[in-house]
Amino acid sequence: ILLIAILFVAAYLIGSICTAVWLGKWYYGIDIRKHGSGNSGATNTFRVLGKKPGTIVMLIDIFKGWAATSLAGLLVVFEAIPADQLIIYQLIMGMLAVVGHIFPVYERFKGGKGVATLLGMMLAIQTDVALLCMVIFVIVLFTSRYVSLGSMIAALAFPILLLLPRFHPDNPILIVFGFVLFAVVVLTHRKNINRLIAGEESKANINLGRKK
Ligand code: G3P
Repeated sequence: ILLIAILFVAAYLIGSICTAVWLGKWYYGIDIRKHGSGNSGATNTFRVLGKKPGTIVMLIDIFKGWAATSLAGLLVVFEAIPADQLIIYQLIMGMLAVVGHIFPVYERFKGGKGVATLLGMMLAIQTDVALLCMVIFVIVLFTSRYVSLGSMIAALAFPILLLLPRFHPDNPILIVFGFVLFAVVVLTHRKNINRLIAGEESKANINLGRKK
């Protein structure tokens, strides 16, 4: 029980790491929350600070979700839970990391939208489907140039793909959780949805060619 409690707290604290805010403040002297969309996430870091910091924030935020979820494996190693319950603890710990990202204890509970951290969690639990969701995200991003739309459609694709016989998980709780996580993503994207409807959402500046 003690180990479970320690790991749950650790998962939340890992998720709480405010990569975008801290990198912006420490390295660039900019509070990312006062620029662009005001969101402390990878997308806004790309928008405000550029490709390199954006990529760093994205990778660290994905890693947070992956690491918190993977730590659940320790519970099986130390025989705190039976192996067949691993998926449940992975889901709880991944979810705690996503909650930490959205409501970080270090920054007065004002964090990002949870997309990159959620992707890390999905990669740790169901890598093939998570990779497919990334492909879907990229397709939506390149056709619409809306990151938020790509995030939401990819988050919805995760549980839907799991319904297919090819990807059907052993434990259907993963599908239920997938829909819950999609609902979380919709909630964190409320402002984006309003902007999309109003035609005011900012488009990503995708430049595949070399910079001149
Ligand atoms: O991952 C967050 C993304 O979907 C939207 O971010 O900064 O455009 O609100 P932003």
